[in-house]
Order: sequence, then C-alpha cells, then structure tokens
Amino acid sequence: MQEKNFNDFVTVDLDEEKNALAIIDQTKLPYAMEMLYLTDQKDIWEAIYHLKVRGAPAIGVSAGIAIYLAARDIRTDDFEDFYARFTEAKEYLNSSRPTAVNLSWALNRQDGVVKANKEKPIPEIVEALHREAIAIRDEDIAMCRAIGENGLTLVKPGYGLLTHCNAGRLAAVKYGTATAPMYLGHERGYNFRIYSDETRPLLQGARLTCFELSQAGMDVTVLCDNMSASAMRQGLIDAIFVGADRIAANGDTANKIGTSMVALAAKRYGIPFYVCAPTSTIDMNTPAGADIVIEQRKPEEVTEMWYERRMAPEDIKVFNPAFDVTDADLISGIVTEYGVCKAPFKESFEEIFRRKNQ
Ligand code: MRU
Repeated sequence: MQEKNFNDFVTVDLDEEKNALAIIDQTKLPYAMEMLYLTDQKDIWEAIYHLKVRGAPAIGVSAGIAIYLAARDIRTDDFEDFYARFTEAKEYLNSSRPTAVNLSWALNRQDGVVKANKEKPIPEIVEALHREAIAIRDEDIAMCRAIGENGLTLVKPGYGLLTHCNAGRLAAVKYGTATAPMYLGHERGYNFRIYSDETRPLLQGARLTCFELSQAGMDVTVLCDNMSASAMRQGLIDAIFVGADRIAANGDTANKIGTSMVALAAKRYGIPFYVCAPTSTIDMNTPAGADIVIEQRKPEEVTEMWYERRMAPEDIKVFNPAFDVTDADLISGIVTEYGVCKAPFKESFEEIFRRKNQ
C-alpha cells in the first residue's frame, strides 16, 4: 500500500508493472488515500463485495481487468480447458454484487473476446483480453465526458444541483456519470451549488461525493437523506442528477437506496430529475424494475457502522436493501453518452442503440 494524492489517480486501473488491479480503497475515504494492488481473484471479489471499489462503471472496469488477470494465470495449451477455467473465474467474479449490470456486461464482453479468438493460441487470446480491458477503461473516460456534455445542455450557470450517493469519478474512472455535468460545468465557470445527500447507511454521498467535489474546488453542501425534500421546497434545487446501477427496458431505474424518495419529492416540487448512465447500464433484457435483483446487505451496516456504539436494540430486525427502483414516470430524462433519452424510454433506448451501432 502506498499514499497517493487524490488528483493524481484514476479510480480503477491496470498496473502493468505489478500485473494487478489498482484501486483506491474507498472504504478508507475521506480519512486516508490508500491504493490497493490486487492480483488474487478472491481479494478482487472481496474488494467489490466490501465496496473498496464500487459504483456501476468502476465495478465494470474492474471486472474487465480482473478477468484478464485470471486468464493470464491459466496454464494450459488446450482451449476447452482454458475456456472452462475462464468461465469459472467469470462466474465467481459475477457473484460479487448482483444489481449493477456493468459487472456482467464487462465479463460478457470479455467472454465475446475469448470466443472470437478461439482458434488462436492461448497467449494471443490473453493478449486480446488485455487489449479489451484497456479499451473498457479508456471508453469509460470518454463515455463519462460525453454524458457530461449532454447533461450540461439541461442546466444553466448558477443552478443548485442535488445528487444522491456517489456517481462521481470514484464510481467510474474519471468524471463520473451524475457528476460529469458538474465537472464540465466547473471547468467552464458555471458556479453550480451542489447538494449531496449523505446516503445512509454507507454514506457514499458524505464521504465520497463531498470529498471528490470539494477536492475539485466545487461548492458542495452535505445534507441528511431526510432533508432533500425540504431543500427542494425552499427553492435551493433547480435540477437533480443521479447515477444508475441497472436501467430496465421500460426506463425503471435501480440506483442507490433512497433515490426513489428523491424522485418522488422532485415530482411534487416540479424539479427535473435526470438519471445519468452509459448505455452499458441499460439492460434491454430486463423488461421492468420488478425484474431487477436488489442486493440485500448486512444488518450491521445500519445498526453499527459509523457509530461508536450500536445505535439500535440488540436483535432488532433490519431492512437493508442496497438499491431501490425509481419508476420511469418519475424520470425527466436519461442522459447517456449518445444523447438524452425521454419517455417512452423503450423507443428512445432503441434509437440510442441504433445510433451507437451505426
Ligand atoms: O453500493 P454502491 O456504492 O456501489 O452504489 C452506487 C450507486 O448506486 C451509484 O449511484 C451507481 O452505481 C451509479 S455510479 C456512476
């Protein structure tokens, strides 16, 4: 482990010298900047499960690199043997978190690389996986910047912008998704006032979004999750940008728990509510929000973490879903790297995918 300055790093990378997945340990932020260099698949699985690396795009980039590292360690000349062990590693990584579709998206993309190169010698297949891992990382940066450009068309200088959880550069490689319009606006002197929900129970908004946006020199204010409706009612919020972990074909969107409450309040107060996500987060194979698997996490995250002493009675039952689904009719627009999708979302997504595949 080694100390690093926040502005020097990208959230997820392949360290070519160490042949390792390089991540910043997000469970230590904002108190310490610690890089982790992971080579072992079990360590990578645990880093994803324990949110050392988190956020849908960052998980996808990590998975693309991790499966390359796994393939690199397979010692065989036989394709069938190679593919069986590759598939085992892929399924293991895919079991680390169920909701963010970018995880399986990146693994399936790497699976396609193996299949397309199956006639080649194993070292060449591994080299193709290496190139694809780098491409997934680099595309993430470009996609987030394009989301930023498209998102910026929806706002004006001086706006108060609310966000929930961390869909920032810590959740991607650079720029983030929901924060991309904020970074680009900041570069262009838009002087946004950013409001960041703290995001119980793991405090990604307070610990991560406030950290990265203030490090970038933006005006950012933290508020508890139960204060956002009040901020909206007082006229402090002009627009809302959030990220997404999986967007169903009808536009229903799974994102960090609490997002749907923000959307409901925004509807009441007539504030535009935008979801920002790359097209890799749109899952046309999932028809609607009810079909999205929502990760349930440990009770201690609610009752013990961040408190000096346990704050609820022993043995109390705990409800701790990590994500919720915001109904499509609460969403004003879904900002992708290819443009802003509007209701009816299914048709709008089909148009976006046509543009992407041109
Ligand atoms: O549990 P987390 O911290 O991985 O949840 C993250 C979120 O819900 C983000 O908003 C989402 O992944 C979008 S990231 C650009």
